[in-house]
Amino acid sequence: MDADVIFKPLQFRNLTVKNRILRSNISGRFDNYDGSGTRARINWELKFARGGVGAIVSSFVPVDVRGRIVPNYAAIDRDDRIPFWRELGHQVHAHDCRYIVQLAHGGRQRDVAGVEFRRGLSSTDKPDPLHGFPCERMTVEQIHDVVRSFADAARRVRTAGLDGVEVHGANGYLFTQFLSPATNDRTDDYGGSLENRARLLLETVRAIRAEVGSDFHLQVKISATDDHDAVFPWLAKGTTIDDTVRVCRWLEEAAVDAIHVSRGDSFPHPNNPAGAFDVKEVVKTYDVLLSNGSHTLRNYLAMRVWPINLFFRLRWDKSRARIEGANLGNARRIKQAVTIPVLCTGGFQTASVIRKAITSGDCDAVTIARPLVANNDLVALFAHGLDRAPKPCTFCNKCLHNVLKNPIGCYEERRFASREEMLAQIMSVFDPPPYAGDSP
Ligand SMILES: Cc1cc2nc3c(=O)[nH]c(=O)nc-3n(C[C@H](O)[C@H](O)[C@H](O)COP(=O)(O)O)c2cc1C
Ligand code: SF4
Repeated sequence: MDADVIFKPLQFRNLTVKNRILRSNISGRFDNYDGSGTRARINWELKFARGGVGAIVSSFVPVDVRGRIVPNYAAIDRDDRIPFWRELGHQVHAHDCRYIVQLAHGGRQRDVAGVEFRRGLSSTDKPDPLHGFPCERMTVEQIHDVVRSFADAARRVRTAGLDGVEVHGANGYLFTQFLSPATNDRTDDYGGSLENRARLLLETVRAIRAEVGSDFHLQVKISATDDHDAVFPWLAKGTTIDDTVRVCRWLEEAAVDAIHVSRGDSFPHPNNPAGAFDVKEVVKTYDVLLSNGSHTLRNYLAMRVWPINLFFRLRWDKSRARIEGANLGNARRIKQAVTIPVLCTGGFQTASVIRKAITSGDCDAVTIARPLVANNDLVALFAHGLDRAPKPCTFCNKCLHNVLKNPIGCYEERRFASREEMLAQIMSVFDPPPYAGDSP
């Protein structure tokens, strides 16, 4: 009998991963306000390393304080951050798990701005249509500074002994704001044609390569399609799969080692992470955003008032028809156009579905977020022959709706014997006690 493809090592140009399941990026406000990391983040990542994933792709790691989306995320914007990341890598590696850092800049898309910078940077000076976060149009000098920040951050990842970097080119953050014709309204070298809109991403990738050399793993997470009209159908669609296929070819030419396929030009977005939009649950935490965007009060009130809240729920719920493997069609299109490995995110939690996605050539590996939050040991369960976890993720999105206010974890009470058991699972990330680098 052939060996199970899920457990066949994945060979990137510069990195080997022991199996085909990578933990997808999952943010969580575990860290200190100033961007220094904590023991809780290490504990969080260890849950997945122990559970058997081949690699972890980190949460959103800001390369610059102005690119932060909320305070309390560990950053990699200065050399004195390196010891924390080294320690994290050291502990994750002890479980034969690789660690790839997602280098990110939010641009105008931020949830809680914090005290340092009120306005985000963007390709445009128009606030985003969903929350109305204010921003300023970047000057060419600011663009060059951001490119430099990414290259410096990548060097820090390498110095920390970690296994690679992922440029967060997806989900509405800075690079999407440049790539998207629905957002980018510039008339200079960074706006207009697809070549110009992709310039920032390609300059960043080349600057990282120049800094870390050709033998360090570098991948890009990209939204195959913007689906800019998903909530408000009167808006333009934005980037198409044909555009993205061209950009991925350019990325390969610029020595990128893998493409991580996602979707949507905001985060969250009805198609990412696809699943429930329980307005009652959302209003419990959306107040955190209220003072940050010009549309946030509108959204908050709309979500409290029937039948306007029904409009939001219905627009969101459209994606529920197919969650597991919903991005495979786009992954296939990209895979047909490039020779580097393609990773696909979105709803994977069934071994037979994952196997088929790989053997049919739609992607080389899958990345998983929520189903691994629900079942940290999902890969071990697959290794024992289970096709699915006995208590699978329900895609209720309560983990997401809590993430800005409460510790990240699975909040689907129905999956636990009691509320106390659910809370114990959530709070376990604060145990064992602080890592030596924590402030007293
Ligand atoms: C709570 C939460 C936090 C997330 N944080 C990030 C992030 O920091 N960076 C990112 O690229 N994607 C992030 N994502 C998206 C996931 O990485 C993943 O691509 C998406 O949820 C679809 O996969 P899934 O169906 O396996 O959850 C997050 C998702 C969730 C639910
Ligand atoms: S709260 Fe739990 S069940 Fe619901 S989407 Fe998140 S991980 Fe899945």
